[in-house]
Amino acid sequence: MNNSNLENIAKLMVAPSKGILAADESTGTIKKRLDSIGVDSNEKNRRTYREMLFTAPEIEKYISAVILFDETLRQDSSSGKKFTKILEEKNIIPGIKVDKGTWPCPGFNEYPITQGLDLLKQRCDEYYELGAKFTKWRAVIKIINSFTPNEVIEANALALALYASTAQESGLVPIVEPEVLMDGNHEIDTCQKVTETTLRIVFDKLNQFNVNLNAIVLKPNMIVPGSDSDQDINYSEVADKTLYILSACVPKSVPGVAFLSGGQTEIQATENLNYMNQSTNLPWEVTFSYGRALQQTALNKWGGKDSNILNSQKAFIHRAKMNSLAHEGKYISDLET
Ligand code: G3H
Repeated sequence: MNNSNLENIAKLMVAPSKGILAADESTGTIKKRLDSIGVDSNEKNRRTYREMLFTAPEIEKYISAVILFDETLRQDSSSGKKFTKILEEKNIIPGIKVDKGTWPCPGFNEYPITQGLDLLKQRCDEYYELGAKFTKWRAVIKIINSFTPNEVIEANALALALYASTAQESGLVPIVEPEVLMDGNHEIDTCQKVTETTLRIVFDKLNQFNVNLNAIVLKPNMIVPGSDSDQDINYSEVADKTLYILSACVPKSVPGVAFLSGGQTEIQATENLNYMNQSTNLPWEVTFSYGRALQQTALNKWGGKDSNILNSQKAFIHRAKMNSLAHEGKYISDLET
């Protein structure tokens, strides 16, 4: 795949008024989600749940791309058609999570580091053959007592850069996801400081490993207080601080920033994105790549029952539409009722 093809795919992933559905929950994470609604996490139930999302009427109006987990990329839907085919028929780009989750960082065991560089090139080549057009790697940056050691950030950023370079060499657009976790009682300024350090180091490493920045999608966290902090922040503060840091750290050549929701409520994630898109002259597309903030209500409404599928799909499409409007800065909360 040449560079211009990769750059085109990256642009399509962050196309105006669209965003990315993160449906790449690992086997452990999807089990937690299904446990929460009392549904057994077996292959059939995971397939039914994902099929419900991917076949929701009009999904293609709001969703440009879907991140899949290994099982789903290889899986047939109930009709016998591959999920990748179902998505492609709707002009939705299929992608794949390629990291192998986190592990205690050597020397700094309280902090995680993402694994998965072993045999990564072989995995990427295989995923390309199976129809994936892009990949995702999530680096997890934890703040403990308002502090993250630079060494941990450096190690995670190095892995992200090696991953991104490998993905492009296999003809796949890398989603580069450095997630500063919301976990903890830190204030918003600590999140801002750690996120700024992280993004600066990540872009240094991407440059060192010759990653083509025109052919990546950045998937960062927004700048928010820790989930155990009682700091009261409104969406304009989140949006202003987030855009300030992005402007300082993210080169204009990057085609798009697609946020993770990271534990924000569905409405917060939409409001914050909307406010950012009310700024003029953003150098990149600013959109969503949400997991929980697109799926939570839909998951609850489904509850594992076929009779609830239509209502669950409606809830999912409603969130996709609200975030599509937020990508354009045109969301209004009255539309929630
Ligand atoms: O890696 C994280 C997911 O792709 C996004 O999930 O929106 O629930 O944080 P989230």
